[in-house]
Amino acid sequence: MTSTPVTRAVVIGCGHYLPENVVPNAAFTKTLDTSDEWIVSRSGIERRHMAAKGENTSHLASHAARAALTHAGIEADTLDAIIVATSTPDMTFPSVATMVQSDIEAFSAYAFDVQAVCAGFVYALANANALIVSGQAKRVLVIGAETFSRIMDWSDRGTCVLFGDGAGALILEAQDGDGTATDRGILATDLNADGRQRDVLYVDGGVSSTGTAGFLRMQGKEVFRHAIEKLAQTAETALTKAGLESDQIDWIVPHQANLRIIQGTAKKLGLTMDRVIVTVQDHGNTSAASIPLALSVGVERGQIKRGDLIVTEAIGGGLAWGAVVLRW
Ligand code: COA
Repeated sequence: MTSTPVTRAVVIGCGHYLPENVVPNAAFTKTLDTSDEWIVSRSGIERRHMAAKGENTSHLASHAARAALTHAGIEADTLDAIIVATSTPDMTFPSVATMVQSDIEAFSAYAFDVQAVCAGFVYALANANALIVSGQAKRVLVIGAETFSRIMDWSDRGTCVLFGDGAGALILEAQDGDGTATDRGILATDLNADGRQRDVLYVDGGVSSTGTAGFLRMQGKEVFRHAIEKLAQTAETALTKAGLESDQIDWIVPHQANLRIIQGTAKKLGLTMDRVIVTVQDHGNTSAASIPLALSVGVERGQIKRGDLIVTEAIGGGLAWGAVVLRW
């Protein structure tokens, strides 16, 4: 096989943070006509974490960032860039990424947020990869952090039981590869969007429309209908770009929205569930935080190991969706 030396964005550390307060499904039965049985059977979710009053997205993000720095064994001032994927920033501006930069004292890093809702981390990873491959950064901290509890309509049983708060972080570093799929690092990315579908999942407020943060609104069945097909398609496209087949995957690390979507996508890719990292039962849907959370938990559990071939895939409001193929 011929090979050409290339720069790869390689994961050198990961970490996560979950707010202390754990809310079991049973808590919702006090105020809503719902049940643990309904929530578990439709979504796989058993509990979720919720941020305390005054605990904002940047706080969760900074905790996850510090954990990733410790895991990587590097200092914050060696970072060149910080990207935070979030749809629930502390404020309209400045970005959460600049708040994290200040918290962790990473003053050599430029910093910005990416907003692609539940696909946010996949979009952020693809952007970090582009910065590294094009020589604009050598070390990039990529965080997914959300406080979706702040945009829940607590009277809407079709949405409020599904989401949670949390943060996860990866540190990517430029390393030399030989240009083949045996390299460690990001091997391929695939990003997609279809703004014609923006009404199936959205927040009914915003700075330039209502002047309020708004509440999440979702046509659950419609989202479900799009999800499995689009997720399997983007994962397959990314694999093809990397010159790989689905049977070479060690782990799928999907966006953790719903166990039935995770199972359906794995099946469509021809993979059994023992090759899927699942955390949705404990975290609920943490939007852009769910993939880095699942990666970090997967490492902590001893499932993900150096050299493993990983496919991440996510879909969310927009619709926006995508996949990243990487070797850990
Ligand atoms: N408890 C009890 N009943 C509930 C409920 C709850 N928490 N939420 C909704 N229901 C009811 C509905 O009101 C509806 O009742 P009706 O038939 O009397 O009107 C019934 O359950 C069926 O609702 P439906 O929305 O058709 O259920 P579903 O099987 O499609 O499951 C979801 C609902 C939301 C779990 C499912 O559509 C889904 O997972 N969609 C994808 C959501 C997602 O992952 N979004 C994030 C993507 S990033």
